[in-house]
Amino acid sequence: MNKPKILVVDDQPANIFAMKTLLAEVDAEVITANSGNEGLMATIDHRYALILLDINMPGMDGFEMAEILRTDENCQNTPIIFVTAAFKDNANKLKGYSAGAVDYIEKPIDQTILLSKVNIFLELHRSRAILADLVSDLNQQVSLTNESLNKEKLARAQTNKISNELTEANKQLTKTVEQLSRSQVKLIEQEKMASLGQLVAGVAHEINTPIGIGVTASTTIVDNLKVLKNNFENKTLKSAQLAKFINESEQTFSIIYQNLARAADLISSFKQVAVDQSSEAERSFSFHQVMNEIITSLTPTLNKNKHKVNLICDEQLNVHSRVGIINQVMINLIMNSIIHGFEKQDNGIIDIEITLQKPNIIKIKYQDDGKGCSTEVSQHIFEPFYTTKRGRGGSGLGMHLVYNIMTQLLDGEIKLSSREPNGVCFDLLFPVKVVNSFNINE
Ligand SMILES: Nc1ncnc2c1ncn2[C@@H]1O[C@H](COP(=O)(O)OP(=O)(O)O)[C@@H](O)[C@H]1O
Ligand SMILES: [Mg+2]
Repeated sequence: MNKPKILVVDDQPANIFAMKTLLAEVDAEVITANSGNEGLMATIDHRYALILLDINMPGMDGFEMAEILRTDENCQNTPIIFVTAAFKDNANKLKGYSAGAVDYIEKPIDQTILLSKVNIFLELHRSRAILADLVSDLNQQVSLTNESLNKEKLARAQTNKISNELTEANKQLTKTVEQLSRSQVKLIEQEKMASLGQLVAGVAHEINTPIGIGVTASTTIVDNLKVLKNNFENKTLKSAQLAKFINESEQTFSIIYQNLARAADLISSFKQVAVDQSSEAERSFSFHQVMNEIITSLTPTLNKNKHKVNLICDEQLNVHSRVGIINQVMINLIMNSIIHGFEKQDNGIIDIEITLQKPNIIKIKYQDDGKGCSTEVSQHIFEPFYTTKRGRGGSGLGMHLVYNIMTQLLDGEIKLSSREPNGVCFDLLFPVKVVNSFNINE
């Protein structure tokens, strides 16, 4: 803070000198003037903490100067102390007060009184300055606060706007996602219906042949029977003719039987594929035990040509899943190895390795060392009615069923990854709930 200033106005240089000497003791800068006019001039560039004004001066006296100062907005509130020897009566004092004086000091000056009064006004000045600073600080803070409040208000309004827009966009998105999933469900349904239709058409086509042969065969028998009946009624039936009829009928019935059996087979495979297996409930079971049961149930068939199954599976692996459809998958794979892979060989070996991958995925690695699949076969193996044994007992539905079970019912996948002549290798992966196992592969 700058030093406060005191203005001393007196026409007597001796007085000014004395005052200056006295005021050297206070913490202020002293500026002097020899007349009222000079005093007014000195107020143009400076602000004063206090003005000590002589009353009796030639030209403009103290009262006049004080009155002018009171009209000047820079000096209006500056305290004025009149220093006087001449006007000691009350009337003059009143005149002084009405001219704006705050105090009087009489000559000869009592130093102590003067100093103590001056100090009081300086103190007042300092306090005012501090107060003014505080007020301006406060104003500044208020305006800053207002500014940041306004900014905050603006930001809040913007945030609200963005948030509203986001909510709206979110609503739209949810709607779109709902629509999408609805049309997806519809598409899947259509797909299912289409593949079911394909399946039905395929079955009708497949069944047509055996049924057709059966019908033709039965009409042959009916025709032969008519001739036989006629001859019998006319009593012209010869024993050779009867023998021929019996012989032919035997053959024809066998054809009818074979073809009906074939049709029945086709229908039962078709039933397996078409039946809604999704209704089977999940249960907890030991994987090792279930696999052993499957292998045991197929042992008579395997033993015929000394085929062998090696099983690698943690005996502690207990899972919660749908054991029935897992059975069907395994039976189809093993029967295919026997029928197709080991078609021309004895001592075939099947390796089944079951591991638990994180997180809760069962992996079945299924391999045989049979004849394997050509590129052509591996491209079509999962298609319905694709078989390399058409007319020789194949329906071409087994691997299609396996594929459907793996992908749709077990929510997993199956991959064929081997080449001729090394046998086949299938990788089957599907999620399960693990009940307990001590051996989880990373
Ligand atoms: N383990 C295997 N080794 C060689 N070929 C196989 C094996 N498994 C399946 N295949 C081939 O895939 C075809 C389709 O199998 P699948 O759908 O079970 O029909 P199907 O057994 O009635 O012929 C078989 O006809 C066969 O050519
Ligand atoms: Mg098969």
